[in-house]
Amino acid sequence: MKNVLILDDEIDMALALKESLKRCGFAPVVCHNPVTALSELNLSDFELIITDMKMPKMDGIEFLQEIRKKGLFTPVIVITGYGTVENAVDAMKLGATDYIMKPFPFESLQRVIARIMPSEETDMVAESQSMKNLLAIVRDVAKADITVLITGESGTGKEIIARKIHKSSLRADKAFVAINCAAISENLLESELFGYEKGAFTGATERRIGKFELANKGTLLLDEISEMAYPLQAKLLRAIQEREIDRVGGKAPIPVDVRIIATTNRDLMSEVKAGRFREDLYYRLNVFPIKIPALRERRDDIAPLADFFVRRLSKKMGRVFELSDELKKHLVSRNWEGNVRELENFAYRLAVVSKSDLLMPLLYDEVSGITNTGKPSVVENAPKGTIKDMERDLVVKTLRETNGNRTRAAEALGVTVRTIRNKLKEYGITEEEIGG
Ligand SMILES: Nc1ncnc2c1ncn2[C@@H]1O[C@H](COP(=O)(O)OP(=O)(O)OP(=O)(O)O)[C@@H](O)[C@H]1O
Ligand SMILES: [Mg+2]
Repeated sequence: MKNVLILDDEIDMALALKESLKRCGFAPVVCHNPVTALSELNLSDFELIITDMKMPKMDGIEFLQEIRKKGLFTPVIVITGYGTVENAVDAMKLGATDYIMKPFPFESLQRVIARIMPSEETDMVAESQSMKNLLAIVRDVAKADITVLITGESGTGKEIIARKIHKSSLRADKAFVAINCAAISENLLESELFGYEKGAFTGATERRIGKFELANKGTLLLDEISEMAYPLQAKLLRAIQEREIDRVGGKAPIPVDVRIIATTNRDLMSEVKAGRFREDLYYRLNVFPIKIPALRERRDDIAPLADFFVRRLSKKMGRVFELSDELKKHLVSRNWEGNVRELENFAYRLAVVSKSDLLMPLLYDEVSGITNTGKPSVVENAPKGTIKDMERDLVVKTLRETNGNRTRAAEALGVTVRTIRNKLKEYGITEEEIGG
């Protein structure tokens, strides 16, 4: 979490900022006068400082000078009132990173922060001990420039880890090229990987460069490697061993310098034993294996991940979503067979269907906590009607959208088809109502 220091002598203003920043995943510390702020800065590290301009004793400019004098180059956003815009300009000259004029909607501040702080898009969540350990390994292996084999169930984050390895490697400023071996037919895959010369086959009207060459000096991600056809595996092995490739229809091999990362959600060794995967290639790829645990084996990541996705979505939708404690408990208890991807989709769906900014569990069956106590939760600012009413509406609305298709409705709501059927019965929803 990013620590932010907020300095404002107006107590309400400072507290409002604190609350909003907290919801965006920052760890804010509030000070009401520059002297305490300065001692706070001696005590801990901050990634951002937001300071008011007009304060008793020491104004924003002096405060800024004091921090820079300490040799602190933390980004500083200055908040200024109408009358002090010139001061803000002075502050910028003295090294303030940006300023914002009062009064401002919180979104404007968010935009300024987004500009200053490195984007969250490439960030990833790793709160569980097992993911923290894994990231430490990732950092070390990234620098080693060796082949990595990433395994893990579908949706556990194999691709995001592969990108992280690339970004932390000495090849970071070179290309990262990914190819999904499961998505492309055998013939096409060869020319996708190695390219082809003009006239190599009917339809090859132009020379085409393959992924290996595109990734030259960089990293090549071979996604779902277990799905590669056996004969092509031999050509891949040769490319890795000899560090050269043959374009289809090419006359001479072309040298390539590529770091290989492969992923699979199968047990590659059993594929070898079953005769579907070449043993020699297996050992070439399995130089450094990384296994990403399933999400249910690292439940400490669930709530932070949900927060992360909801925050990302808040930014996109220009709203400030928040997960109710009840919902978090529910999320942590689920099994997430589809892992992080399933959680991500679930969070998005919730945000999209939610009428209030507070996200809460909508479907009773899914919320053991509620069914157990039998007590409906009380939600402030909830739209009219009980949760049951909302649930009924949601089921009807979703079924209308899917033209009565139970399977698709169940998918959209993240529940089983059986739950949908039970809901239809429970609420006496008729076919007419869903337009089916
Ligand atoms: N630790 C994480 N923090 C944030 N987002 C994550 C994390 N792990 C995975 N994700 C997100 O979850 C989704 C699935 O991750 P990714 O595509 O890397 O998984 P995968 O293992 O390659 O899945 P598949 O087996 O289906 O190809 C992506 O949108 C990714 O950004
Ligand atoms: Mg993947």
